[in-house]
Amino acid sequence: MYQFYAMTSFGLEEVLTQELLSLGLNVKRDFLGARFEGDFEVCVRANIGSRIATRILLEIKKFKANNNDELYKHVFEFPFEEYFSNKETIRVNATVQDSFFKDNRFVGLKVKDAIVDRFREKTGERPSVEKDNPDVTIHVRVVHNEVVMSFDTSGESLSQRGYREISTMAPLREHLAAGLLALSGWNREVCVLDPMCGSGTFVIEAALLALNKFPMLDRKKFGFHKLSIFKSDVFRRVAEEFLNLEKTETTLKFYGYDVNRQAIAAAKANAEAAGVAEFCEFKRFSVQELVPPVEKGLLIINPPYGERLVSHDIEDSYRDLGFALKNHFKGWTCWVISGNKDLVGLMGLKSTARIPVWNGPIECRFLKYEINK
Ligand SMILES: C[S@@+](CC[C@H](N)C(=O)[O-])C[C@H]1O[C@@H](n2cnc3c(N)ncnc32)[C@H](O)[C@@H]1O
Repeated sequence: MYQFYAMTSFGLEEVLTQELLSLGLNVKRDFLGARFEGDFEVCVRANIGSRIATRILLEIKKFKANNNDELYKHVFEFPFEEYFSNKETIRVNATVQDSFFKDNRFVGLKVKDAIVDRFREKTGERPSVEKDNPDVTIHVRVVHNEVVMSFDTSGESLSQRGYREISTMAPLREHLAAGLLALSGWNREVCVLDPMCGSGTFVIEAALLALNKFPMLDRKKFGFHKLSIFKSDVFRRVAEEFLNLEKTETTLKFYGYDVNRQAIAAAKANAEAAGVAEFCEFKRFSVQELVPPVEKGLLIINPPYGERLVSHDIEDSYRDLGFALKNHFKGWTCWVISGNKDLVGLMGLKSTARIPVWNGPIECRFLKYEINK
């Protein structure tokens, strides 16, 4: 039995927990994530099946370290050579908080030294360090001198689905888009519209969900591939199970509009790469001319927050959005994520739910509007 920790963004912990439960895992909600235990099969299930987690960490050792020597000693004592060979490249990621240790980089170097010294002593050779795309990534988190050391079983962030061929300004990270769709309570029975779709993340994630498509099935290299826990037969069997869940048809349609021509081109290319283009419709429209494409549905939107400069254009866009919702979207449920409450106020609508979430470093609110009039 291994101990795993699935990481996500602030505000998505509960929907992540529910998602992992639905994958059959025995999971408990935790700070910025969820934890569960299980074997390698469970690890694969979480890596392929979760849309809301950013990484699945395998926790290998917890200890207290009050100084550099204690940190080095505890890391050195761990039998790394039982988990991967000295031929693999490694990287150490460290974060420290409220500790004797003040510097992430220093802790990372100290841990790396202990690992390579251990390999040299036990095997005669040391693994090389590789910053980009290493075979094995070791995470070290220190809070109040309590250290948790983990292997990253995902490799690249699970947010990187592989379909974003063209990016636009301020795209949402994919796990956040999937998490917000879950928070909205979307039942996969109504169409989805994002009237400021940018690179198309909400639209594509919704289409993937409706079709039960798991983009991680296309990932060639997970973090677990070079760890001794890896079992190719288990990996193949679980991947096949997920592949068999995929649907080829849905009666739903997914709409993305944006005022920016390049955004529409990017969204189309990305939907194509994700294999959902035939269910999506991207069009160049401003929110000024926004009307619903169908009678009822979910509108979900991530307008610009204007962090640095609140331009009049952005203010007008929020006013136009509020006007369109009030006047044309009766029967729709609308959700807006914004990091700027003054701009949201310009919509002139009363929200019926407000959920705090973080979009990267920006504190946001995810706001629900039920249009009944
Ligand atoms: C924060 S970005 C959305 C990013 C998107 N969620 C993604 O994942 O790529 C905001 C988008 O709103 C669009 N936009 C701004 N004002 C608009 C307006 N008045 N009408 C339609 N789109 C607008 C911008 O072109 C930009 O693509």
